[in-house]
Amino acid sequence: MGAITKEEFEAVCAYVYGLTGISLDNTKAYLVETRLGSLVKELGLSGYGALLAKAKAEAAKHLEKKIIDAITTNETLFFRDSAPFELLREKILPEVAGRGKKSAPGKPPPIRIWSAACSTGQEIYSIAITAKEVLGVNGCDIRLIGSDISEAAMNAAREAVYSKFEIDRGMPGHLVDKYFAPRGHKWQLHPAVKSMAEFRKVNLMGPLEAMGKFDVIFCRNVAIYFSQADKAKLFERLAKCLVKDGYLIIGSTESLRGVCPAFELKMHGRAAYYQIKD
Ligand SMILES: C[S@@+](CC[C@H](N)C(=O)[O-])C[C@H]1O[C@@H](n2cnc3c(N)ncnc32)[C@H](O)[C@@H]1O
Repeated sequence: MGAITKEEFEAVCAYVYGLTGISLDNTKAYLVETRLGSLVKELGLSGYGALLAKAKAEAAKHLEKKIIDAITTNETLFFRDSAPFELLREKILPEVAGRGKKSAPGKPPPIRIWSAACSTGQEIYSIAITAKEVLGVNGCDIRLIGSDISEAAMNAAREAVYSKFEIDRGMPGHLVDKYFAPRGHKWQLHPAVKSMAEFRKVNLMGPLEAMGKFDVIFCRNVAIYFSQADKAKLFERLAKCLVKDGYLIIGSTESLRGVCPAFELKMHGRAAYYQIKD
């Protein structure tokens, strides 16, 4: 199989965009070759055109899922950027838990947190461990939802078994001892933490109302793959998924300036977060 042609690359870009909203510019031909070339070879196909034709013709969408798994970048780590987790620990969780207790007599409503592009689970489990540390074992009813478009990534998240390399990327030693058990050469997250999170396949380019309302949304390092127009639409839809005074946390290299006027940037120490303007 030769190098990807301009026509093939354009067809792949249109197909990937239609499925995921991921916007591949002209500099990404190499990325398409390295990520989809092996699928072309594995299936004994003549090229990228044949790959797309086969994927589009398949009712069960197995190949479509494989293409999504291959083309998405699932890079993540535990306690990524650290500041959002300081924000969660020092401000958000105590405040939201207090809000629930004051809201009405009887049982307070659960705290709902969404990791909206959770990849292999490191983000949602960093949130779960932070919640355990702040609120204690029986401190609060907390619902954590992780979602992603890549089923392979989400299956890994559901399994919650991590290699030493993955554990070493961000999980402090004392929390490994407290929340993980060795399993062969890997580490299994304790069932009590694992069961705090549930997972759903959600395409952030699609409607999001069915997700309901959240106290906190983490939407980090995914909008970087979308066009400016799609980013704006995404954050407008996410704004509708937040409760009043809810928190939106985006990636450390991202900004909503000029993207979504509904949100106001706020700081807590070195952590940036967004809330809907009054
Ligand atoms: C770089 S990872 C970010 C993981 C995590 N949020 C973090 O910051 O560490 C980006 C994730 O976005 C997911 N993704 C890409 N396009 C998506 C879409 N349209 N809807 C939902 N998830 C998407 C990918 O599958 C990937 O797991």
